[in-house]
Amino acid sequence: MLNDIERVLVSEAELEAKVQELADKIAADYKDKNPVFIGILKGSFVFMADLMRKINIYCDIDFMAVSSYGNKSKSSGAVNITKDLGQDIEGRHVVIIEDILDSGRTLSYLKKYLMNRAPASISICTLLDKPARREADINADYFGFDIPDEFVVGYGLDYAEHYRNLPFIGVLKPEIYSE
Ligand code: IMP
Ligand code: MG
Repeated sequence: MLNDIERVLVSEAELEAKVQELADKIAADYKDKNPVFIGILKGSFVFMADLMRKINIYCDIDFMAVSSYGNKSKSSGAVNITKDLGQDIEGRHVVIIEDILDSGRTLSYLKKYLMNRAPASISICTLLDKPARREADINADYFGFDIPDEFVVGYGLDYAEHYRNLPFIGVLKPEIYSE
């Protein structure tokens, strides 16, 4: 598996430091607000697990799942909710936790979808941001790293369901996804 990686883009140490920084900001902003953190499966699971253990305030944790790239490295544009929330968010402060903001279609759709349930507020926290690829009018309130327009894997992010278990963010060798 490690042989498929061209280079490491964000190391384990850089991830850990950035996750701590984001956790500190979020904890300060949401102290006494009892927020609901909503992780978008599956890509956010590693980031969310690390982030949550660094946020020491009362909060709820929930998950949603949406269809993503399937086995391709380009988005189809379709957003399909395959798992919805297990709780009511009316009047609650919501923070959506995502792995990466790419075209922005997924988060733009999700934010509108959740807005309809009358939360007190919604913000977005994404580990990675690829601003060059943006198509939808959406930005993250909290983001870890701006990255170039390259396909990355690891720390929750997959290519064809593989590589989510890599502890760092890496760039895949191009021959892997052109096969
Ligand atoms: P968007 O709707 O185009 O912003 O797509 C966001 C989703 O696409 C993310 O939640 C990821 O699952 C996936 N994605 C976008 N870029 C990458 C990448 O470089 N590697 C792995 N998954 C990606
Ligand atoms: Mg994905």
